[in-house]
Amino acid sequence: MALNTTNPTGTEAWKNLQNHYNAIHNTTLQELFQQDTARAEKFNLQWNDFLLDYSKNNITQQTISLLLELANSIGLKDAINQYFGGEIINQTENRAVLHTALRAPESAVIKVDGENVIPEVYEVKNKIKNFTHEVVSGERKGFTGKAFTDVVNIGIGGSDLGPVMAVEALQFYKNHLNIHFVSNVDGDHVNEVIKKLNPETTLFVIVSKTFTTQETLTNSETIKEWFLQSASQKDIAKHFVAVSTNIQKVTEFGIDPANVFPMWDWVGGRFSLWSAVGLSISLAVGFEHYNELLKGANEMDEHFKSSEFDQNIPVILALLSIWYNNFYGAESEALIPYTQYLQKLAPYLQQATMESNGKSVGRDGKPVNYQTGTIIWGEPGTNSQHAFFQLIHQGTKLIPTDFIGFITPLYGNQDHHDKLMSNFFAQTEALMTGKTEAQVQSEFNKQGLSAEKASYLLPFKVFTGNKPTNTILIQKLTPKTLGSLIALYEHKIFVQGVIWNIFSFDQWGVELGKQLANSILEEINTKTVKNHDSSTSFLLNHFLKNK
Ligand code: F6P
Repeated sequence: MALNTTNPTGTEAWKNLQNHYNAIHNTTLQELFQQDTARAEKFNLQWNDFLLDYSKNNITQQTISLLLELANSIGLKDAINQYFGGEIINQTENRAVLHTALRAPESAVIKVDGENVIPEVYEVKNKIKNFTHEVVSGERKGFTGKAFTDVVNIGIGGSDLGPVMAVEALQFYKNHLNIHFVSNVDGDHVNEVIKKLNPETTLFVIVSKTFTTQETLTNSETIKEWFLQSASQKDIAKHFVAVSTNIQKVTEFGIDPANVFPMWDWVGGRFSLWSAVGLSISLAVGFEHYNELLKGANEMDEHFKSSEFDQNIPVILALLSIWYNNFYGAESEALIPYTQYLQKLAPYLQQATMESNGKSVGRDGKPVNYQTGTIIWGEPGTNSQHAFFQLIHQGTKLIPTDFIGFITPLYGNQDHHDKLMSNFFAQTEALMTGKTEAQVQSEFNKQGLSAEKASYLLPFKVFTGNKPTNTILIQKLTPKTLGSLIALYEHKIFVQGVIWNIFSFDQWGVELGKQLANSILEEINTKTVKNHDSSTSFLLNHFLKNK
């Protein structure tokens, strides 16, 4: 089986949505709330520790019905079954897409090419569990007999962003190990990290699905050289482990095959933190917490797989995003977590979303005639309020925004938390209601402002409001709720890709730059600038002359 190749714009549902948009897009959110005072009761979903309020969107019941009609006419249910069932839905790479199998229970049976993959998944999980225990307890020691104090994850893209995000997010649950990340091929990055480390007590986890990635191999070689200044070749086996599908290349690097954590080609890099790519997460917070993260993701998988679409959080969020992207012409979406712990969520989801859905060719091989992939960006609140919220409130662009907040603070500092959450609620209200001329005028009157000054300032102080937001309110940031949250966004990405008729699980767009960089490196090494456009040649010559 394969995903169908329906162009969404050719469906009846799309045409109906276009007509519906024409009819309602001038109705403001303020008007919608006035027309229906029970809006929030209708447009919310509650599941486990999650509450999604999507009432502050430019939608009516009819919008949701039409969006659901679109999902049905594209065959979303069938696509979900293919996704979870291990069908080859990543057709351009001829692969299944089964990161969901990594968090499935041991009793599950999920087949790839007729083979149940769950026993292998659990074998690797057990290896992660034992290894984590040995390192955290100090049983596993470095070459001078000392326990490990530091772990360096060497990887990039999906082999870095997931672990970085989750280790940061779960800091509260962390043990004594210091976790560092080296990703950029920029030598200053690796030097800044290693200068703080003692080779005797540092464990290196090289994470590369392909083990061919220039950045990761260069950083690993540099670190190996640095390590060998204090240790001998045989000590590598004690200090270097790898996560990869490419066992041969890992062994060539000098890593003991016993220290290799395998992964599979049916796990995409940007969805791989659930595999051994998450080893540094397990080392940071312990295997039990890591396993909770996986459990939380699995619970979201079940919700996504089995809930009716109108009760399905990832489906609803995906459809709302399509509504703004394809009918309102919104170019980007902001993601604002009201917790400092989730400061790396936006960069993580940038890769997941933009590498997946940044495509312009449909599954039928033809260029698409509509917008696809959304641009994702964001920073934690309240910091972001003091940075870019001005533009969301009063700029010219429509930026649908997800607000993610937690009811219970981790350190129990209620005073701080109430202040944080009052901002959380105030922002979505302000974005929706805005401030009218009459309200501004009445404030001026109270301040006793002169008529001349008031009339000058008035237009600058008015907020139109009518800015859509989703509010995701979660009980508490735990490994489990984090797992559910990440899986939620993964499935949102999937739904959007299915409806946009694109292949979400390949990433050919990152190849051209890599190829050109290789040939330019050769030119830099040989100091001979070959045929480029005049700008690139000019820049290269300037670099070579001054380096
Ligand atoms: O950026 C392209 C990409 O292939 C990502 O999809 C992947 O996460 C990253 O490079 C790293 O790849 P690898 O794990 O093979 O080193």
